[in-house]
Amino acid sequence: MEYEQFKQILKSRRSIRRYADRPVSHDDVRDLIDCARYAPSDTNSQTWKFIAVMNAEKIKQIEAMTWDCLHRVAARAETEGLGREAKLLTRSFGPYATAFADAPVLIVCLATPYQSKFREKIFDPIGFADKAIWEEEGIKSSCLASMNLMLAAHAKGLATCPMTGPVLLAQNELRNYLNIPDECQINMVIALGYPADTPSKLGRKEIDEILEIVD
Ligand SMILES: Cc1cc2nc3c(=O)[nH]c(=O)nc-3n(C[C@H](O)[C@H](O)[C@H](O)COP(=O)(O)O)c2cc1C
Repeated sequence: MEYEQFKQILKSRRSIRRYADRPVSHDDVRDLIDCARYAPSDTNSQTWKFIAVMNAEKIKQIEAMTWDCLHRVAARAETEGLGREAKLLTRSFGPYATAFADAPVLIVCLATPYQSKFREKIFDPIGFADKAIWEEEGIKSSCLASMNLMLAAHAKGLATCPMTGPVLLAQNELRNYLNIPDECQINMVIALGYPADTPSKLGRKEIDEILEIVD
């Protein structure tokens, strides 16, 4: 593939929050996971797993769980005299955190524990870093795999939206509902489906604002 074609795929991917009433096949999902697993990972640890929820009722149930949690947080803020913030949470963050609701597929992206020979033979014996560092290491690789998945989906004509909103709000509920083992972190969810929306252009920071070249 030509570089310009690839760049066009990168530049035209958008987060989509409205989906056509058209199913996505198991084969397509498997194909996307095939692309995801070729992402780089620290010492090829491949600290990722994916749960693809492809049942509309179950996706609605996850949406309901997310709203329940959000309402609980809003009620607590209200009792603490933070009524304005509670309203904003419900009106602005609520729809943002549940934008997966009409997607035919919801992919839950997990990070599995980071293990490596370095960690086992060197880092752990000398107490080089604490558990949080290794959790972060797992999440980094899981993010790269998720990006592969989203770009591959876009190249196939599918749309995605990466989302941490439902994870921030309803992580425990999601874990129980999908029987996610304690050792796995829930990194993000990705809504997946055929797009029913063409969002307008979204700006990006200028290159000079984000790049420093050291010669
Ligand atoms: C870590 C992360 C978390 C995000 N969480 C949400 C979310 O909870 N809800 C949502 O609708 N979009 C979410 N997004 C999508 C962003 O809003 C979106 O990527 C950003 O506005 C840029 O738009 P684009 O993806 O169309 O280029 C998230 C994106 C990232 C990378």
